[in-house]
Amino acid sequence: MAQKIVAGNWKMNLGKEEKMELLKGLKLSDIPNDVNAIVFPTSLYISDLAKSLTKIEVGVQNFSNQNNGAFTGEISISQIKSVGATIGLIGHSERRAYYQENNAFLKSKVDHAINEQFKFIFCCGEPLSIRESGQEFLFVKNQLQESLFHLSAEEMMNGIIAYEPVWAIGTGVTASSEQAEDMHKSIRSWIEEKYTVEVANSVSILYGGSCKPSNAKELFACPNVDGGLIGGASLNASDFHAIINSF
Ligand code: 13P
Repeated sequence: MAQKIVAGNWKMNLGKEEKMELLKGLKLSDIPNDVNAIVFPTSLYISDLAKSLTKIEVGVQNFSNQNNGAFTGEISISQIKSVGATIGLIGHSERRAYYQENNAFLKSKVDHAINEQFKFIFCCGEPLSIRESGQEFLFVKNQLQESLFHLSAEEMMNGIIAYEPVWAIGTGVTASSEQAEDMHKSIRSWIEEKYTVEVANSVSILYGGSCKPSNAKELFACPNVDGGLIGGASLNASDFHAIINSF
């Protein structure tokens, strides 16, 4: 069974005190035991947040594909682990679009994370022009094939993928539950084709893109949606709390 996960990607928002306030407002004791809640703060604040949290995992929005050395501005997995982060994002569409992270580069991050035994959420999703041309399934399958599907079955087991259609991110336009389920079902079937049904059923496939309290229940009720990667709505404690409790 795939693990249920709700993760808040705070992107480059909120100072340290605001982050602490937000976490206080989350009513941590109400997080259901079968839901893994994660927050992805700005890296600078990981240490403070990780120290103060028990029921929520703290993750990093980005990490280097190198161990150490002359890589100005980068942060290594061992440095990240040392301040308490347990998971990282790979391939968010904003990193693909603004920092030119392509499928081959993202593959190197996947390999590095596997070597360093660092858990990750691999993000995929098509831009609007691709959806409008009807090529979204081909596009997403290609992202997975070029960056992720070279892993062994053992490495793929219990993996986490986030499907985030770019046209739904930060736009207020959510994919309908049918659109989300169609893509999630396809992703699971590609994993089954490449690996086994056991591997496919063990992978958590999260939806991201204008997910909010008003649509989370319907999205999370889809058979192949195992949770969400939440941007804007995770910056508001009561909205994020409601989404975490939407299964
Ligand atoms: P929004 O929820 O703000 O659309 O952002 C989604 C996202 O990019 C999460 O990684």
